[in-house]
Amino acid sequence: MRENGAVMAELLSIILAAGEGTRMRSATPKVLHPVGGLPVINHVLRTSIAAGASIAVVVGPDHAAVEAAVAGMAPGATMSKQVDRLGTAHAVRQAASSYSTAKGNVIVLYADTPLVTANTIADIAARLDAGADMVVVGFRPVDPTGYGRLLTADGRLLAIREHRDASEPERAIGLVNSGIMGFRAETLRAVIDRIGNSNAKGEYYLTDAVELANADGKRVDFVEANADEVIGVDDRSKLAQAEATFQEFRRDEFMKAGVTLRDPGSVYFSWDTEIGRDVTIFPNVVFGPGVRIADNVEIRAFCDIEDAVIGSGATIGPFARIRGGAELGPDVHLGNFVEVKKSKIGAGTKAGHLSYLGDAEIGSKVNIGAGTITCNYDGVNKDKTVIGDNVFIGSHASLVAPVSIGSGAYTASGSVITEDVPADAVAFGRARQVNKPGYAPKLREKALAKEAAKGKA
Ligand code: UD1
Repeated sequence: MRENGAVMAELLSIILAAGEGTRMRSATPKVLHPVGGLPVINHVLRTSIAAGASIAVVVGPDHAAVEAAVAGMAPGATMSKQVDRLGTAHAVRQAASSYSTAKGNVIVLYADTPLVTANTIADIAARLDAGADMVVVGFRPVDPTGYGRLLTADGRLLAIREHRDASEPERAIGLVNSGIMGFRAETLRAVIDRIGNSNAKGEYYLTDAVELANADGKRVDFVEANADEVIGVDDRSKLAQAEATFQEFRRDEFMKAGVTLRDPGSVYFSWDTEIGRDVTIFPNVVFGPGVRIADNVEIRAFCDIEDAVIGSGATIGPFARIRGGAELGPDVHLGNFVEVKKSKIGAGTKAGHLSYLGDAEIGSKVNIGAGTITCNYDGVNKDKTVIGDNVFIGSHASLVAPVSIGSGAYTASGSVITEDVPADAVAFGRARQVNKPGYAPKLREKALAKEAAKGKA
């Protein structure tokens, strides 16, 4: 792998995911809770992949769902189980089959730290390549209670003291261990099996690697990361914090890339949202996973969009919901209270008001009148509605699928369309109107007589 012209050493990323995560109080393993619509552990996997690392994950004994998530995101990853949770060094040892033959560098990451960037990993790798034997990523939390403190001198890291084992002066140190550490592979192999468990918790602490490496005359460096980047998601409040930070990152990224956010704090993105240039997004818009938006699109307030592709020049909302594999062509207009599910809509087609378009294939330059509903579900099956180009669907239509409407056809307002409409035909699917001249006063008299009869009773 090459970066900035330099050849970087091979990289192995060991991701620790065996913790129980009891503080989440959840039936779902903590590393599967989503941030930006993606499970926390998948963020760490993606970042490792982006950094060019091969991956070894250490999972708990009853974590089949975690294993499935890993296999889905990083099919090449090796997985090992930590049956007894005896500490972070013990967890790393479970990945021995991966690091015993590793060349180059090894990075240990926690599966519950989703926002760590590929840049930070690259920084660690670069320091190792430049001569460090071990590098620890530190940060300065608002409250360092509970974290391992970094004991440093002359720009080097001497030791990490876990909170429970630290003296009062050591506890006063604000720079703490994020848990992210890089090793030359041979340094990791030299120290990992010598780590003991004589400490306050009786666990095998990976942090003891620092003192052992120093005692071997190795060079142990530390780098300082932004506290936001190394936040560990171990309860719901940290999950919310990680989500907030993730959203901040993404909003910033989109604004830098040419997207106008009228009220950035009220727009929520997913990890995989893709947006072109000169797109304007009004307040209170939420993007679920799987959204791709081309250039020059306007999304007005209060839209919820997921699993959808939106073509250039489209105008969406306010109050539109688009989902389930929707594909909107260029210059489509969807107005207020329009829902589109698993439908293809051609260029320049308009559905301005109050419609449900599900399982439909709609051509270009179609006018979908207000209140049009595709009746796609009979209680068992989902059926398709096909509408050709240049069709005019009059307001308040029920299009009962399976049904197809040929190009250039009209359907009269208020129609229930149950049969196919040929191209260029006009379809009336409603009772014909009957006018009875002069009948209204008689109707009124009848009504008044009924009221009077009630009064007597
Ligand atoms: C650890 C560090 C501490 C650091 C803090 C940052 C040690 C001894 N301490 O403390 O210096 O400031 O993280 O959050 O390393 N895990 C396993 N198996 C185990 C134990 C842990 O897989 O037996 C995994 C967990 O799933 C988690 C990570 O290791 O992803 C950290 O575990 P945790 O218990 O949160 O570590 P701390 O004791 O908080």
